[in-house]
Amino acid sequence: MTAIVTVASGKGGTGKTWFAASLAQALALAPGRRVLLVDADWGLANADVQLGTSAPAELPVAAPLEALVGCIRRVPGTGVDLLAAGSGSGRLADLAPRDRLALARKVAAIARAYDWTVIDLAAGADRSLRDWWRLGRHRMLVVTPDPGALTDAYAFLKLARADGDAGRAEVVVNRAPSRAVGDATAAKLERAVGHFLKVPLPARGVVLDDPRVTAAIRAQTPFLARYPGTATTLTLEHLARGLARAQKPSAQPSLRPSEPAT
Ligand SMILES: Nc1ncnc2c1ncn2[C@@H]1O[C@H](COP(=O)(O)OP(=O)(O)OP(=O)(O)O)[C@@H](O)[C@H]1O
Ligand SMILES: [Mg+2]
Repeated sequence: MTAIVTVASGKGGTGKTWFAASLAQALALAPGRRVLLVDADWGLANADVQLGTSAPAELPVAAPLEALVGCIRRVPGTGVDLLAAGSGSGRLADLAPRDRLALARKVAAIARAYDWTVIDLAAGADRSLRDWWRLGRHRMLVVTPDPGALTDAYAFLKLARADGDAGRAEVVVNRAPSRAVGDATAAKLERAVGHFLKVPLPARGVVLDDPRVTAAIRAQTPFLARYPGTATTLTLEHLARGLARAQKPSAQPSLRPSEPAT
């Protein structure tokens, strides 16, 4: 049984990669729990850089599943396995829809060997991103209190709704200057989405702006290992516990193609 968490935002730079990587670390704190982090920002992947580990230059997309499994690396100091292609693997960014779907199928198959799989997506809202988004049992939109981030998250969800995939969405407010601002930001987006798109968007949590995040990224060290016991780490642990509680026996991830294979 696996639970897949997909992490999108619309706008770039809201903290998706850091959040996805840190959530994976928090999930992996439970003894015996198998956690996979997938950097699906194909072409501009940087989870490996943030975590101070290495990734193969290219992923063998067309090769048998075992070759892809062979690309998984354990992130030192965490219980997290990472599947990523090094930054600049342009071939992955330009995959044809049929190959994209084949890759998503393989990732979903690999995910079955894990209790949790967290998939970090690229910025944007294009079709290929939404194909990955729908794999999530939990589909998280990471926003900041910046109005541009809210507008883009709204636009992402509007497109996902048109695909029939706005369900199971949740919002995480990152870089909030205070808990109150974070809560108000989540409520504002939830209201707009509820009113205009008629879909629920519950808040999964609020992460405060914390200079340690930038420090950990610059030091290329997993956040939870570098800053255990800090307020931000406790927030992530709380989020992970909430997810684990919400976990029910999973359905198979949805892999229907959203466009004709070419
Ligand atoms: N909670 C936080 N507090 C302070 N700074 C943060 C926080 N979260 C993220 N950042 C900063 O935001 C920067 C961008 O983070 P990250 O690369 O994870 O964003 P992203 O959404 O994945 O970006 P992209 O859209 O380019 O993939 C980080 O380098 C870090 O400095
Ligand atoms: Mg990123």
